[in-house]
Amino acid sequence: MASTTCLHALLILTLQLCFLSNSQAAKHSHSSSTSRSGRHHHHSSSSSAFPNPKLHQAYIALQAWKKVIYSDPYNFTTNWVGPSVCNYKGIYCAAPPYDHTIKVVASIDLNGGDIAGFLPEELGLLTDLALFHLNSNRFCGIIPQKISNLSLLYELDISNNRFVGPFPHVVLNLPTLNYLDIRYNEFEGPLPSELFSKKLDAIFVNNNRFTNVIPPNFGVNSASVLVIANNNFGGCLPPSIAKLADTLEELLLINTSLSGCLPPEVGYLYKLTVLDVSYNNLVGPIPYSLAGLAKLEQLNLAHNMMSGVVPDGVCCLPNLANFTFSYNFFCEEEGICKNLSSKGVAFDDRRNCLPDKPLQRSNKVCQPVLEHPVECFEQHCNSSGVGGGSGAFASISSAMPVAAPLLSPSNAPSYT
Ligand SMILES: *[C@@H]1O[C@H](CO)[C@@H](O)[C@H](O)[C@H]1NC(C)=O
Ligand SMILES: *[C@@H]1O[C@H](CO)[C@@H](O)[C@H](O)[C@H]1NC(C)=O
Ligand SMILES: *[C@@H]1O[C@H](CO)[C@@H](O)[C@H](O)[C@H]1NC(C)=O
Ligand SMILES: *[C@@H]1O[C@H](CO)[C@@H](O)[C@H](O)[C@H]1NC(C)=O
Ligand SMILES: *[C@@H]1O[C@H](CO)[C@@H](O)[C@H](O)[C@H]1NC(C)=O
Ligand SMILES: *[C@@H]1O[C@H](CO)[C@@H](O)[C@H](O)[C@H]1NC(C)=O
Repeated sequence: MASTTCLHALLILTLQLCFLSNSQAAKHSHSSSTSRSGRHHHHSSSSSAFPNPKLHQAYIALQAWKKVIYSDPYNFTTNWVGPSVCNYKGIYCAAPPYDHTIKVVASIDLNGGDIAGFLPEELGLLTDLALFHLNSNRFCGIIPQKISNLSLLYELDISNNRFVGPFPHVVLNLPTLNYLDIRYNEFEGPLPSELFSKKLDAIFVNNNRFTNVIPPNFGVNSASVLVIANNNFGGCLPPSIAKLADTLEELLLINTSLSGCLPPEVGYLYKLTVLDVSYNNLVGPIPYSLAGLAKLEQLNLAHNMMSGVVPDGVCCLPNLANFTFSYNFFCEEEGICKNLSSKGVAFDDRRNCLPDKPLQRSNKVCQPVLEHPVECFEQHCNSSGVGGGSGAFASISSAMPVAAPLLSPSNAPSYT
């Protein structure tokens, strides 16, 4: 993720530098065309007013967009007038990879605009767009199919808008997409398994209305950040999560109605620094395999129905900074887990069934759970969506040898 952020910053910087030089160039050509014609505004829609056909296409796209914007409280689109497309607020031009002598629309940033409106099909004319950032606006409707024409699109952030409908499959057709952020919208239905097979560095789909579990059958993936919190998935976390081992650094599954046991395969995700499965219906013990997550810094298991022992191997993790496991039914803390603050680790063990610890559940609540320990190998990973997955736990015991999950980092693909 760090590398993505750097790359991102670099791209933005490049674009801004291009933008600065370009706006000067544009001003220059603007004044010279004014002195030539003296009435440049009247030429705004004729193609001769544009330095190249791409900017003419961009003009058509942006004017079509402006027509379906019905509220723009910060006046982002007020200066979207005339042929100087590169001077429009929020629009950035740069040289495309295939021709360093021209400028095209390479980036759109309307973040925080609070703009209400739709996305028109004409956006498909912005074929050179690399970054498309629309977060925190009031765009609604669906993502136009013609977006598939944006073959250079690298980052798509439409988070915190009012988009609706099923998962926008069209984004799966974007060949160079690397960063997908559609969180805080009103998308619904299942997540397609293709999403997890696509070569994306970051996937944010949290805070939508997606249902159905993570598909159990997804293939090789390259995500380093996967955030699917606050959706109504249900079902269990499939063991196939292990396929993300070579890349995944942050897994946030907060409040996704996950049930069943945490699969031991989570311990295969040896690059994880953040694992948060809080606010679910998980049962059973903490897999010992988590003791292999040498890079883990934040571990949050709170607000589940997990039980058994909090293993010393997890509490001993060298980089652990915060281990929250309150609101479960754990009955014993092994070794150092008893006093993590002596190790400088922030922890929260309230509302469990820990004898001798303050703020625990009552005996009456704890007793039935302690009398019926969950056998994870009898659990079935019920997938309500994409068939399969059933019985996936059948042969897997949660007691994995501690050293097993450490896969060789040399397998890691380089994708930056
Ligand atoms: C936007 O433009 C309108 C009309 O010119 C003006 O009244 C309003 O104050 C502007 N809003 C902002 C945030 O600049
Ligand atoms: C898609 O891009 C091509 C140029 O690559 C352009 O000619 C065409 O009009 C675009 N299609 C749409 C629907 O925007
Ligand atoms: C969990 O997500 C649901 C929507 O799926 C939301 O209504 C609820 O407030 C969330 N709960 C927490 C604790 O964030
Ligand atoms: C899966 O379904 C079976 C039978 O319907 C049920 O007994 C079991 O508790 C379910 N498991 C999970 C993890 O939801
Ligand atoms: C530890 O993590 C929990 C859950 O994410 C958070 O609420 C708490 O503030 C964190 N504690 C510290 C000291 O960072
Ligand atoms: C936990 O460790 C700290 C620091 O070493 C110590 O001050 C504290 O008394 C210990 N608490 C318990 C309950 O042992």
